[in-house]
Amino acid sequence: MRTHKCGEVTKQHLSEVVELCGWVHRRRDHGGVIFIDLRDREGLVQVVFNPDGAETFAIAESVRSEYVLRVKGTVKDRLEGTINPNMKTGEIEVVVDEIEVLNESETPPFPIESEIEVNEEMRLRYRYIDLRRTEMQQKMKVRRDVTRNLRNFLDDQEYFEIETPILTKATPEGARDYIVPSRTHENAFFALPQSPQLYKQLLMISGMDKYYQIVRCFRDEDLRADRQPEFTQLDIETSFMNEDEIMGTMEVMIKKLFSEVLNVDLGDFPVMTYEEGMRRYGSDKPDLRIPLELVDIADDMKEVDFKVFSGPANDQNGRVVALKIPNGSDLTRKEIDALTKYVSIYGARGLAYIKVNDRDGGLEGLQSPIVKFAPAEVWESVLTKTGAKTGDLIFFGADKTKIVNEAMGALRVKIGLDRGLAEGDWKPLWLIDFPMFDWDDKNQRWNAIHHPFTAPSCTIEELEANPGQALSRAYDLILNGTELGGGSIRINHTDMQTKVLEILGIGEEEAREKFGFLLDALKYGCPPHGGIAFGLDRLVMLMTGSSSIRDVIAFPKTQSAACPLVDAPAIVNDAQLRELGIKLRKPTEKSEAKED
Ligand code: AMO
Ligand code: AMP
Repeated sequence: MRTHKCGEVTKQHLSEVVELCGWVHRRRDHGGVIFIDLRDREGLVQVVFNPDGAETFAIAESVRSEYVLRVKGTVKDRLEGTINPNMKTGEIEVVVDEIEVLNESETPPFPIESEIEVNEEMRLRYRYIDLRRTEMQQKMKVRRDVTRNLRNFLDDQEYFEIETPILTKATPEGARDYIVPSRTHENAFFALPQSPQLYKQLLMISGMDKYYQIVRCFRDEDLRADRQPEFTQLDIETSFMNEDEIMGTMEVMIKKLFSEVLNVDLGDFPVMTYEEGMRRYGSDKPDLRIPLELVDIADDMKEVDFKVFSGPANDQNGRVVALKIPNGSDLTRKEIDALTKYVSIYGARGLAYIKVNDRDGGLEGLQSPIVKFAPAEVWESVLTKTGAKTGDLIFFGADKTKIVNEAMGALRVKIGLDRGLAEGDWKPLWLIDFPMFDWDDKNQRWNAIHHPFTAPSCTIEELEANPGQALSRAYDLILNGTELGGGSIRINHTDMQTKVLEILGIGEEEAREKFGFLLDALKYGCPPHGGIAFGLDRLVMLMTGSSSIRDVIAFPKTQSAACPLVDAPAIVNDAQLRELGIKLRKPTEKSEAKED
């Protein structure tokens, strides 16, 4: 139907006759001449209708926005003064001899312009229109470039792309499962995979050596800008490679990706321990673009006359930190109140601060509601530790360690980004030496920090003696404060796997029922193996500078995990429910009426 794409016609096609198909982006009538910007996936081209071709002209006059056209015409230079240097096709126009309306269009619910703000519910309801916008088409193109580049790399390295089941059994990755009733097995349900974790391990036991899959994962969890209930992983597993070899290969892959798709050199990725991340940044995914750091001051606060500080300073599970904001003394009372509210989301009960009005002025030089609670030498020590100067402001966080880390870690990022302190565009790093377990005080039990199949870096005896001290052989890849990927070396012996499940409170019987197939498989010559999974949507979100992963997924779910386009989830009719052996606890009005 066409000889070229609209966005591809340039000066090199001058005087050629071209045939183009596309959508009417804009139509302008200019004193007897009609200009139409014709749009397709590759961009816009200006097509021109002169009144001499009366029939063609009449049709051009009748078309409206988003009509689908086919035109045939000659590529000509644009007149001096009408050249658009910002457009790839900006030097030429196509003077049309023939036009065919392939389809008409009603007025779209919103204009197809990248610059126009449209509410998201509307965008998702009419996603097929939203996706016509240049910005969205470009994002889909980057996504295509990314998956193609990653596939090429892994194919070159002899990884096998292997599909794993979607109808399966619960895989513990820390979220709720989406479950699917089975018609053929009464009272039984499939679970959609939270990840292909156990299948990829079974593939290693099968001798597949190197596996990857671009795979959909399903997690019923609270949604945020970087979380969707169904999302895509680049999932990878290898045999006979240790963590350094796996991290090394993955680093080469990600660097090559950024270099080839974005022309960005990420440099070598620094490696940081979990302990250091928590200590300096209050986070296991520190945004290294932000130069602010938490400074421990519990030692100074043990004796002070301020319970809020001395309490946590003397508590083994407490932490007291200072966060210096260079030139922060211009923060107003109102701004500080807003930040205090912000940290309260993370459980902080307040946000003490000191404005350093004169670094050499002793107590007189400090402006703060809390200076009175401690003698001058305490504040002098704090100023020295934080390296504060005149004009700086210091925030304080004192509470249980977990609360301080979360609140002050988040505050660090917020202030850093809000005040434009971020340095550099891309700051990747590996985070390693995670603890194996996290103590859940409420339920009085250990939780796995990664997943229960991650190998510890100690012996089974050491693990048993002190689960809280054990570190894992896990690694996360962090980019600009976002967890892009996570993986680990896996347990490949039944006794260690059983022990880890036991520490997690999963007894023998439950372990058999849930993971018997894995425990059995581990007995049949399981090679040492490990892997990683990257959040593909998050990767593309960062690479396209998007603020939400919804913008890089063709058909995403809303914040409440629904799809307004097809209107899912939806009510199922009674016959279907009966066939599945399901009776609703809260019947819908329709089914209730039927039961009566
Ligand atoms: P993990 O649970 O860390 O590890 O997931 C790997 C990566 O997937 C992305 N991700 C998500 N992206 C969008 N929406 C979500 N709801 C979501 N949840 C996770 C993140 C994350 O880093 N089986 C292990 C991997 C392994 O050990 O090999 C796993 O799934 O970018
Ligand atoms: P108060 O004595 O409660 O008025 O608190 C004095 C100052 O300490 C205020 O600026 C509070 O915001 C701050 N503050 C209270 N609790 C904490 C806390 N847990 N961590 C840091 N600052 C706090």
